[in-house]
Amino acid sequence: MKRKIEKGRTLLVDGPACVNLLAGKVEVFGAPLKTGAKTVIREGKRLAFKVKQTAHFDLILGENASVEEFEGNTIPDSWEKACRTTLALDEKPVIVVVMGEVDSGKTSFCTILANKALKEKRRVAIIDADLGQSDIGPPSTIGFCRLTLPISDPFLLKAENAYFIGTTTPSGALNKVIDKLGKMKDESLKKAVDFLVINTDGWVLGEEAVQYKLRLVKHIAPNVVVGIQRQNELTSILAALKGTKVLSIEFPSAIKKRDREKRKILRELGYKKYLKGAKMQSFPLKWVKVEGVPFGTGITLNERTLEKINAELGVSPLYCEEIPNLIVIVTEKNQRIEEEQIFNLAEELGKKVKLIEEGDEQGLLVGLHDEKENFLGIGVLNKIDYRRHIIQVYTPVTADIASVHVGQVKLDKQGKEIGLNPVFKDYYIIA
Ligand SMILES: Nc1ncnc2c1ncn2[C@@H]1O[C@H](COP(=O)(O)OP(=O)(O)OP(=O)(O)O)[C@@H](O)[C@H]1O
Ligand SMILES: [Mg+2]
Repeated sequence: MKRKIEKGRTLLVDGPACVNLLAGKVEVFGAPLKTGAKTVIREGKRLAFKVKQTAHFDLILGENASVEEFEGNTIPDSWEKACRTTLALDEKPVIVVVMGEVDSGKTSFCTILANKALKEKRRVAIIDADLGQSDIGPPSTIGFCRLTLPISDPFLLKAENAYFIGTTTPSGALNKVIDKLGKMKDESLKKAVDFLVINTDGWVLGEEAVQYKLRLVKHIAPNVVVGIQRQNELTSILAALKGTKVLSIEFPSAIKKRDREKRKILRELGYKKYLKGAKMQSFPLKWVKVEGVPFGTGITLNERTLEKINAELGVSPLYCEEIPNLIVIVTEKNQRIEEEQIFNLAEELGKKVKLIEEGDEQGLLVGLHDEKENFLGIGVLNKIDYRRHIIQVYTPVTADIASVHVGQVKLDKQGKEIGLNPVFKDYYIIA
């Protein structure tokens, strides 16, 4: 479909679609488009093509895609002003934290600000700490990337480094997110970045969210916090940020909201991107350190305890281990052990008992790291072989793996997200 758009107007395209600029001068979130360039818009995403000189487009629209013309600019004036204010700061480096509810325009604002900073020849980087809707790095990670060219969509960037958190919401991993974000900030500044844009998750409502965001800002100590608000949903956070420059900006009227299903589809595209070329690989457990599973730190149970377990559960476990305050028992599948049996066993042993079935781990997302703890990529856990002490992971990573961090996101064989599975949630570093 061909379309001509006059100067001063904006073409809004909702994906899945592919837009080819045939002629004219056009910008997408501050990034100039080249003529002949094809821009792919994923399902659930909208891009705004701001026409600066009459433009001719060729559009290919997928199922449920749509196109709309808008008079003027969809980027609010308060966004332009916030960019100017931030770029005028003479501090070095400048660190900007961007906040807002889900679907408030956080990613788009980060993109515009980063593009404008790049145009001013700043050494720009983005840290994406939005675990659930990551643009840089796979979902459930904090990703980092320096910018060398303007970008219309940060999803096109490949993360230079990332920290694996393993969940798609920060709740339950608050300390970890704040700690790793701080580390990522330090690393970025060591790479001579002088303009750092940090995107955050959309969890801003409620006391817990407010306290978390305040802690995050305190830890990162940015020069500016930019808050995108429709009404006053960020007031509790922004008002409490004494001593930090705060810029409150509008919620764009052209925003495209996404339902849970669309957000899930977008995440699945993120897993797919970072699982491309994956193969099944096996690692002996004595070669790799596994974090987040019950292997290695605990003590082996004595004969008497094992006998008690066998007697109470009526099965012989595949694997047992005692860690402080907890006894971990792995059994074969479908052993039909009743809650009451576990309760009785815990009473008898005087400790909490966690029962895991072989295969419960299948589909869990994992992060892979080298011996210096550098993130190498993600994978999907296929199997922990409790008999042969082998871990089997589906991953494209070919570099030497020193540690595997097991997360809580579970995927099916097609890479579709089944949900969060806390099967190993009670376990931490196993060296
Ligand atoms: N000013 C704008 N004009 C047109 N479209 C916009 C604008 N700002 C955002 N959008 C579109 O609206 C959708 C939501 O915006 P964006 O992804 O920036 O929000 P977000 O707060 O990062 O969302 P999430 O919480 O999912 O990460 C996107 O498809 C984006 O391209
Ligand atoms: Mg976003």
